[in-house]
Amino acid sequence: MPATRSVPEPSPTGRVGYDGGVAIVTVNVLGSPYDVHVEPGILASAGAILLAGSSSTRVAVLTDQIVGPLHGPALAASLRAAGFEPILATLPPGEANKSLTALLPVYDAFLSAKIERSTPVLALGGGIVCDMAGFVAATLLRGVPFIPIPTTLLAMVDASVGGKTGVNHGVGKNLIGAFHQPTAVLADPAVLRTLPPAELSGGLAECIKHDLIRDADGFANLERTLPEILAGDVGALAELVAHNVRIKAAVVAADPFEHGERAHLNFGHTFGHAVERVSDYAVGHGPAVAVGMVAAAALAVDLGMLDGGSRDRLVTLIGRAGLPTGGLSLDADAVVRAMGYDKKVSDGRLRLVLPDRIGHVVVRDDVPAARVAAAVRRITA
Ligand SMILES: NC(=O)c1ccc[n+]([C@@H]2O[C@H](COP(=O)([O-])OP(=O)(O)OC[C@H]3O[C@@H](n4cnc5c(N)ncnc54)[C@H](O)[C@@H]3O)[C@@H](O)[C@H]2O)c1
Ligand SMILES: [Zn+2]
Repeated sequence: MPATRSVPEPSPTGRVGYDGGVAIVTVNVLGSPYDVHVEPGILASAGAILLAGSSSTRVAVLTDQIVGPLHGPALAASLRAAGFEPILATLPPGEANKSLTALLPVYDAFLSAKIERSTPVLALGGGIVCDMAGFVAATLLRGVPFIPIPTTLLAMVDASVGGKTGVNHGVGKNLIGAFHQPTAVLADPAVLRTLPPAELSGGLAECIKHDLIRDADGFANLERTLPEILAGDVGALAELVAHNVRIKAAVVAADPFEHGERAHLNFGHTFGHAVERVSDYAVGHGPAVAVGMVAAAALAVDLGMLDGGSRDRLVTLIGRAGLPTGGLSLDADAVVRAMGYDKKVSDGRLRLVLPDRIGHVVVRDDVPAARVAAAVRRITA
């Protein structure tokens, strides 16, 4: 739906083509491809981009109380300049508010403003806002266009690619939801400059994961460019986002419903989810995935699949990204038990995504529990 620009070709090194900070990555899913626009300052062009594809004069915008004041005015000005009337709803931030209850006033706001089937829902925020706005878009009037404008690194490289939307339930995270593909994604790397460093590091955990599972050259590039990324260099951030969207898009397009290789994206997550749960979510997702990747790499070395040098490169990069590599004050046995309840358990066997070199992983369902326990003890104090 938005105006299209030329799409830079991926270079042979696996890095996405990159032209002055602008990249468009097409996500080919289920016959409804959409473009992820990665461009510093694109927030201020959102109205004009929308105008090219929308027949509605109104747009519904969902944000949160932290991102709204920071970046809402620029988005609203851009929408108004293009002749749109924004209908704004603001959520309290935080995972505890990622619930159906928190969405009720949002439905009230959008429905009482008489939105139509053609009215797009925009998400301005991190993964929580994107997941919730996507669910609203999937369910309002049985489905309206959805345009995420992700504002965290994690939301840009992970949550806004793949079409998973939803909210949490008391029984567990993300248990109520729907697949609803965006019409387009507008990723503005410049907004990452207001992101707290810990949130940037959390997103970097997924970026490290992407290169570790798919792209050895990308991994080496990240080792080189990490200082600029951590310093908030917008060009480096734009390149990082485009590169990672391309990896996630390729994996998702090959396996939209998680029957096969999309499981590779779970690298570090089987350990990580258990760490999140056992810590009662005191360890956040990014740090949990970070130690999860350390544990998975240790296990791979233990099984003779991975060389120690590659493991050391991974652990070093994780640490340099501001993420933990071990020393958790958690009961290792409790973490192992929690892994048994992970949703990645198939036919009673624990399926683990393990690296056999940087840039490549395999799925193993034959790892003895004792070896898994030993790997967990590497990341607990
Ligand atoms: N749909 C998917 O495929 C998918 C994939 C991964 C994660 N997720 C979901 O994403 C959520 C986590 O997303 P997240 O890590 O972005 O967390 P988040 O949405 O909670 O954002 C982190 C914090 O940063 C603030 N923030 C966001 N952008 C900011 C900015 N530019 N400047 C300053 N502050 C900013 C937010 O208000 C929030 O307090 C989880 O609920 C997870 O389930 C979904
Ligand atoms: Zn993750």
